[in-house]
Amino acid sequence: MSTNPPLAVDQHDDGGHEDAAMRNRETSEGWHDGSSEHAYSPYAAARTVFRHPRGDNDTMNSTQSLYDSDIVYINIHGRRYCKNYYMPNDEEEQVRSQMLHSVYFHLFDQKLTMVPLTNPRKILDIGTGTGDWAMAMGDEYPEAEVIGTDIAKIQPSAVPLNVYFEIDDAEEEGGWTWPKDEFDLIHFRAMLGAFKDWRYIYSETYQHLKPGGWVEVFDFDDHQTLMTHFDKELEIDKFLAAIAEATRIGGRPRSYTHLEPKFLAELGFVDISTSTTMIPMGSWSDDPGERQAGKHFLVAQLCGLEALCLRPLTEVLGWDPEEVRRICGIIATGVKAMALDHEKAKGLGFNVRVLVGRKPFPDELPASSPSTPRASTTGDTMGGG
Ligand SMILES: C[S@@+](CC[C@H](N)C(=O)[O-])C[C@H]1O[C@@H](n2cnc3c(N)ncnc32)[C@H](O)[C@@H]1O
Repeated sequence: MSTNPPLAVDQHDDGGHEDAAMRNRETSEGWHDGSSEHAYSPYAAARTVFRHPRGDNDTMNSTQSLYDSDIVYINIHGRRYCKNYYMPNDEEEQVRSQMLHSVYFHLFDQKLTMVPLTNPRKILDIGTGTGDWAMAMGDEYPEAEVIGTDIAKIQPSAVPLNVYFEIDDAEEEGGWTWPKDEFDLIHFRAMLGAFKDWRYIYSETYQHLKPGGWVEVFDFDDHQTLMTHFDKELEIDKFLAAIAEATRIGGRPRSYTHLEPKFLAELGFVDISTSTTMIPMGSWSDDPGERQAGKHFLVAQLCGLEALCLRPLTEVLGWDPEEVRRICGIIATGVKAMALDHEKAKGLGFNVRVLVGRKPFPDELPASSPSTPRASTTGDTMGGG
C-alpha cells in the first residue's frame, strides 16, 4: 500500500479543494474562442504525454500520438471536450476529478482495487483522465508497469517511473493493439457513458488480459437511493432522464447496464462479483473521515452538474445553454440545502458499484469454449438501461 498517495483526503483540509474548484469555475468562463475545433487551453499545453512502445504493430493505430497538436479539442459553450465524449476535460473538470479520486481513495479504506493482485507486472487503466489512479497504483506496485490511456491529454508529466500515459481511443475499430494475454488488471473507473458498445470493450479486455488476470469496473449506479431524499418539485429525476435520453440518442448511453455481471459471464469470465458502496454526500456522517469525504463529494457533485449535462442537453436535445445553466443552478441550490441539513440528509449519497471478473486459466476453460471470444457485432450493445 502506498504511504504517500497523491491527493489523499487530508483530515485537516481547510477546504482548499473547494476553493480550487470554485476558482477554476471562474477561469473557464473566461474563454472566448467560439470555434468548435482546436480550442486553446493554457493548461493542456503545459502537459506532456509519454508514448510507450508496445510492439511491432504499435504504429498501426494512428490514435496513439506523441504530439499535443494531434489532439483536437472542441469548445462547446465555454467548456473543452474531446471527440464525442459527453463530459469536458478542462481544468475545472480535472480539479473535480482529482477531488473525486481522493474521496474514493478515502472511502474505500485506501484500497485502489478490489481484486486480489499477486505480484502484478502490467496494469492498464482505460480512460485514465488525470491519471491519479494509475499513479497511485504505480506507487503501490513499483514492480509493475502501469499504463493509463485516454483520448484527452490531461495527465501530468511528472509521474512515477513505472507509469506511462498514452493517447488511445479504446473504441477504435480493429481491436486494441496491445499484445494478447498481456495484463494482470484492466481497470475502468467512471467510464459510464463513454462507449457505444461495452460488449466490444469487454471482449477486447478479455483478450488482452493474461489468463488469471482481472477486469475491474467502477461506476455509479442508477441514483435511485439518492432520489428518495428529494421532493418531486426539484425535478432531479426529469433532469437525469433528459441526460439519459440525450446520451442514448447520441449513441453512448449513460446507462448502468454495463455493471451487470452477465456481460462478463457471456465472455467467459469467472469469479465474477459485484459490490456496492455508498458515498455520503454532505456532512451528515458522524464519522469525521466520512464527513470530510462527504463534504468534498458534495462540492464535486455541485460543481459537476454542468459538466454532466451541458453537451448532451444542448448538442443533442437542442436546449439553450443558459437555460441548462439555470436549471443546474436550481438543482445545485436544492441539493446543497438538503445535503447541509444534518437530520434530513442522513443517508444521502450515491451508490458506487464495482464489478470484477477473472479471465480463466486454460485448464479452467470448458472444452468447447473459445479461448479468445470476440464480441458479436449484432444484437444488444448494452446501451438500453
Ligand atoms: C469521468 S472521466 C474518468 C477518469 C478516470 N477514470 C477517473 O476515474 O478519474 C472519463 C475519462 O474517459 C476518457 N474517455 C472517454 N472516452 C474514451 C475512449 N473512447 N477511450 C479512452 N478514453 C476515453 C475521457 O477523456 C475522460 O478522461
